[in-house]
Parts: sequence; C-alpha cells; structure tokens
Amino acid sequence: MPSRILLIEDDEAFRRMLGEALADLGHEVVPAGSAEDGVAQARFQALEGNGFDLILSDVRLPGMTGVEAIPLLREASPGTEIIVMTAYTDHETALDAIRQGASDFFTKPFRLSEMQIVVGRTLEKRTLKRELGALREALRQGRPGRVAVGESPAMRAVLAFVERVAPLDTSVLILGESGTGKEVVADLIHEASPRAAGPFVKVNCASIPENLLESELFGHEKGAFTGAFVAKAGKFELAKGGSLLLDEIGDMPLHLQPKLLRAVEQKQSERVGGAKPLRFDVRIIAATNVDLARRVADKAFREDLYYRLNVAAIHLPALRERKEDIPLLAAHFVRQFNERTGADIPPPGQAALDRLMAHNWPGNVRQFANVVERAAIFSRSGVITAADVEMALAEGAQVLVADATGQPLSLRDTLNEVERSLILAALRQAGGVQTRAAKALGITPTNLWNKIQKHAIDPAEIIPT
Ligand SMILES: Nc1ncnc2c1ncn2[C@@H]1O[C@H](COP(=O)(O)OP(=O)(O)OP(=O)(O)O)[C@@H](O)[C@H]1O
Ligand SMILES: [Mg+2]
Repeated sequence: MPSRILLIEDDEAFRRMLGEALADLGHEVVPAGSAEDGVAQARFQALEGNGFDLILSDVRLPGMTGVEAIPLLREASPGTEIIVMTAYTDHETALDAIRQGASDFFTKPFRLSEMQIVVGRTLEKRTLKRELGALREALRQGRPGRVAVGESPAMRAVLAFVERVAPLDTSVLILGESGTGKEVVADLIHEASPRAAGPFVKVNCASIPENLLESELFGHEKGAFTGAFVAKAGKFELAKGGSLLLDEIGDMPLHLQPKLLRAVEQKQSERVGGAKPLRFDVRIIAATNVDLARRVADKAFREDLYYRLNVAAIHLPALRERKEDIPLLAAHFVRQFNERTGADIPPPGQAALDRLMAHNWPGNVRQFANVVERAAIFSRSGVITAADVEMALAEGAQVLVADATGQPLSLRDTLNEVERSLILAALRQAGGVQTRAAKALGITPTNLWNKIQKHAIDPAEIIPT
C-alpha cells in the first residue's frame, strides 16, 4: 500500500536520492530541508486531514536537531511512525531518539535496500496497529442489539477468531445451529475489517427462488431471459469494496456451485447472458446451519467449494453448550427491553436464572432473547420471576405474529417458529416415528429429516404427550 512519508534531510543530493528510493517503493514523499520546516509540514498536513504515515528524519540538521524535533512532530502528527538516521558512531543519540518516541533508527552510512526494509517493516507494523485499533473499536462499540455477548471460553474463542480473520481478506465460513449468532459474527468481521467503510451485502440463498438466484448473485444482461428488460448488477458487483454474506450457503443449488466456486476463487464471473467476465472486489463470508461436511458426503454440496470456503471456518457453539453465558445474556436482553420500552426491570434473579439455565434452548440465542423479552412483559411485580420464565417458555410453543408490545416479528422468524412448532407437534403425535410424522405433514421423510436438523429439534423434546 502506498504511504505518505515526510523526509527531513538537509543534504539536498542525499535527500533526492532517498526520496527516489522511497518513491520506487510506491510511496508519496514530501521533502523538508530542516527540522523546523518538517514540523511545519507535519502541522500543515495534519490540518489538511492528510497526515503522514511515516516521518524519516536526519538527526544532525541546521537549527533544531532531529531528536529535538521528535516531541513536536509527535504532537503535530500523533500516531505517525518516526525513524531517525544517525551517525554510525553516535549510539547515544539513537537511544535518545527512541526514548523520545521514534519507532526505529538506522545508522549512516547505510545501503538503500536496508533503508527500504526498515521503512517497509515500520509501515507494516503501523498498518497492523491501525487494523487492530479499528477492530477493538468495532468490538467495543458493537451496534446496539448486535453485540456479541458472552464471556464463556467458547465465546472468547469466537471473538479471538473474529480478531484474527477480520484484517485478512480470505473468505470465512461460519457454521452453527439456527440462532447461534452467525449473522452477528459476520457483522463483527465486516465491521472490524479494512472493508468496514464499504458495503456489507447479504444474500439469503435459501429464500430466493432457485431460478432467480444466479441472476441475483451475478446479475444479468438485458434480454438474458424472459422478463429481463434491463441489465442488472448482481450482489457480487454491488458489494464492491466491501463484503458479501452468502447466508444459508448449504442451500445453494448444486448447478450454481461451479460458478460460485470460480467467483470465490478467481474473484470474477459473468452476468447471466453476458460474455465478458467481470472482476469482483469483495470479501466473501458464508454462513449455514446445515452440516456442510455431511452435505458433501451426501453429494449435495461440492467438495471443492466446501474446501475453498472452509479455509477459515468457525463453528458457533449452541447456547446449551455455553450455559455460563446465560446470566450475562439475560441481563443484556432485559437491558435492551428496558431501553426500548422505558421499563426499569432489573436483571433476572437466581430462581429465574435457574429456570433459564435448565432449558436446552434448541432455538439458541434467538429463542432465548424472545423468551426473556416475553418474561419481561409478564413480570407484573417489576422483577422477572421463575414463573414469568415458565409462562414465556410455554407461550413459545404458540404462534406469534406480533409480540406483546405489538412489535411485529420478522416474517422469517415467525415462519421458522411456526414450522418448528408444527413439526414438533407432528412428531409428538406420531410418537417420534419420523415417517409417520412426515406423512401427516405431507412432506417426504428426507425433507422432514432436513427440517429436524435445521430447527435442531432434540429427541428429548419429542416426548409423546
Ligand atoms: N452473542 C450474542 N449476543 C447478543 N445477541 C446475540 C448473540 N448471538 C445472537 N444474538 C441475537 O440472536 C438473534 C439471532 O442471531 P443471528 O441472526 O446472528 O443467528 P443465526 O446464527 O444467523 O441464525 P439463523 O441460522 O437462523 O440464520 C439475533 O437477534 C442476535 O442479535
Ligand atoms: Mg442467520
């Protein structure tokens, strides 16, 4: 990446030579003949919002020395790396410079290649520092409602993964049962990445009709198919400079997978009905709640695509596997409820927490959030009791189109809830015999099996009534 470098050196010939060597590396160099001039430049550029990435300064200069200038330069341009060039014999000065805040030094005479290496290393360090800073900030701020709450070892591992992969440009695969927070993690990765300023485009591969998915992803040219009156850009194009979430990738039809593989691998493909390959500048994040490895074994998902996506993968733990996060999550969702409704309900006490901990949360954090919220609505006394939790859990089995505050639930969440409770009811009626339940529901046994996986229905839930 090209950087902006302020070069302070009084020897004009030497300055020109250094400047050229730095420009050869692709950097933009601003020369200064004295420390005073350098400080003035740093102040001016900072005011212009055009600060330097690096300041390279000689020590022995007419007037103020390079070392004396360091505090002023740091003040004028905080966060800029400073490297000084000292005489071979003058080690004390070099140490002094470091004490004043220089990040590195090298001694004259030096080879240009040596100088280029030191500069390259320092700039790289700076980039990493900034990315880490951006990441911390994103993790700290976490948009309201999109905070990844959790302190369990499992959640800490998830956050460490986010920290590790966010700065890279590799594709990421997020696995985990429904409601475990895959989208939350995808958001964090995008927001903590160098692409944060770019768009974050999301495609749900399962909710788009199969015959439209290709055009949705890759776009189409005018006349590509009946009804294609105008050309349209695909999501890959729209995500330019940002990230693309391929949600429910497990449901990607087999016939589209080769094209997707090429798009992920070579960052290019054609619009439907188009001949010329378009290049994409996107980072791919894929998520699914199906067992992809199993899909591969069943020949429902291409192995090559799976391996390509699986380079950086994370499996989000089910809520029942990290119950130690329940008190924190409960407090978080109660606080959210308070903020939204103006209520003033304290975090659930021990009895209510015990009840929450005893449940196995097949719908994971999504279901947990719903139940806590309903319990908050039920809490007459202003505190959430175990009985409120009980009632909220029982109500969860019913169909809700709007929650008790009148807020509509999203169509997808509602449909998921309805589907899950119907399947559960059918399984219970059928005494747990899947073929019988499938028949009652009018779907194939395979289809039912897939839905049982999708909703993470636990045999323990199917106890016949
Ligand atoms: N660690 C967490 N902290 C706070 N809220 C969370 C956390 N994980 C999930 N949530 C909340 O739970 C709900 C479900 O999360 P999300 O949509 O990310 O799940 P998902 O894994 O993508 O589910 P699905 O497979 O059904 O798409 C969201 O409202 C989200 O804000
Ligand atoms: Mg999701």
